[in-house]
Amino acid sequence: MIDLRSDTVTKPTDSMRELAAQATVGDDVYGEDQTVNELESRAAELLGFEDALYVPSGTMGNQIAARTHTEPGQEIICERDSHIYRWELGGLAQHSGLQTRPIAGTDRGVLRPSAIADGIVEEDAHRPGTGLLALENTHNAAGGTAIAPSRIDEGATTAHEQGVPVHLDGARLANAAVAHDVALDRFTDAVDSATLCLSKGLGAPVGSVLAGSVSFIERARRVRKLLGGGMRQAGMIAAPGLEALESIDRLETDHENATILADRLDAIDGLTVHPPETNILLVTVPEPAPTFLDACANADVLATAFDEYLVRFTTHRDVSRAAVETAADRIASVVSA
Ligand SMILES: Cc1ncc(COP(=O)(O)O)c(C=O)c1O
Repeated sequence: MIDLRSDTVTKPTDSMRELAAQATVGDDVYGEDQTVNELESRAAELLGFEDALYVPSGTMGNQIAARTHTEPGQEIICERDSHIYRWELGGLAQHSGLQTRPIAGTDRGVLRPSAIADGIVEEDAHRPGTGLLALENTHNAAGGTAIAPSRIDEGATTAHEQGVPVHLDGARLANAAVAHDVALDRFTDAVDSATLCLSKGLGAPVGSVLAGSVSFIERARRVRKLLGGGMRQAGMIAAPGLEALESIDRLETDHENATILADRLDAIDGLTVHPPETNILLVTVPEPAPTFLDACANADVLATAFDEYLVRFTTHRDVSRAAVETAADRIASVVSA
């Protein structure tokens, strides 16, 4: 089976398993897990912030950020197809009492500064006030688009001009960094917090990091506890995360494989390929996505439905170039059948 559903399906490497077994651990809720502390300080350094917090998932990182930045009853602005809005179970309302103001971005998922400015509401006797702007990079639903650091800066500056803080959902920020050939911290110059997932393309088994100022992370740590995310001997799972943080450059291979898959699928009549910028490839298919995916699964290729006729293929560490070529052959046979 060639599994292209998501970059979350990777299995830990032998060295990650070894690191987990040998990790120096303690009770992290007491701040005594040396491995978690090391992971948090390395993540803070790479993301360009004073401090960071290890969290079980990207979703929890985003939700903690939203609650830490805002007051209940405020509004959060986010892109209409952003993960924080569409795929986090309405957590913004449930955990933080926020009203969401979704705004359409460009077809690459970029929120225009003018749209951000128009979306900000000032608090008064009738209006709740905007408490946070959330950006996403790479933008998953737009097809893993790698938004340039300057575009992130522009959006964040617009929000700051109105006194609104900015969180960057950087679940796949490392992919954006590789695509633009810049360091991770170049994307965070103008934002107040950012998440990075260790368990997607970077291949760790569990976890994400949320980074920000010392005082933000101090408050975020309390919110993590509130949400039940305080972990004990978490060094066991943080140790592979440290290896993941040092393996950012390998994402280049996933991007190349996505381009190879795109080129191969583009040659198949009936498929419309949306050119990939990173490791995510969106393809419009000639029949309803579930029917197409069933046929692919019968041919031992897995992918994900993204819309009625839209399918997502994601390359990752556990699919080689040869596997991608084989997947393309199998998909071709599915389409011609
Ligand atoms: C952009 C983005 N943000 C956040 C998440 C959530 O990450 P997790 O699955 O670790 O909760 C995802 C997951 O795919 C994502 O694509």
